[in-house]
Amino acid sequence: MPAIAKKKPTIVLQRTRHPLTETNRVEIVRILQPMQSGSIELYLQLKNAHWNVKGSGFSALHSLFDDASSNVLQFADELAEHTAILGGEPVATVQKLAAVPQLADAPLGMRNQDEFIKVMTDRVSYFCGLVRDCLVSLERNNDPVTYDVCLRGLASLEKRLWMIESHIQSKL
Ligand SMILES: [Fe+2]
Repeated sequence: MPAIAKKKPTIVLQRTRHPLTETNRVEIVRILQPMQSGSIELYLQLKNAHWNVKGSGFSALHSLFDDASSNVLQFADELAEHTAILGGEPVATVQKLAAVPQLADAPLGMRNQDEFIKVMTDRVSYFCGLVRDCLVSLERNNDPVTYDVCLRGLASLEKRLWMIESHIQSKL
């Protein structure tokens, strides 16, 4: 079961002429933070799968994990830039990511393709759930732009979840 961060981070915003109130932006940036850092963790785990997977399905899985990692990186970039647009500070250092992890790390020494498919299905599914929970919170904050950024990212990510888990659908 992936770890869930409990600590509420202190949010200090940069000055900006963004039309939303500071109070509103603090709340939105607080909601964005676990998605923003979690998306970078998920990107790295998908790259780990891309580089280390072994088995008869290597070629297809190597490409599939790479496509999913590119997709997640694009979402991570959107989330980080949107955090900055609202005056927040995106998390972008290994030290900060490691301090408050959003996802359980990949098991060490993993190579087998079935294990990678199962673990990456778990991580992508967990992250999709995290984004869905954040969307529920965002609905209360009256910011359709942030909501739209997250919704578009989620739709694309759920497609990757389907593509990964379909390899072992009968075993889930
Ligand atoms: Fe590559």
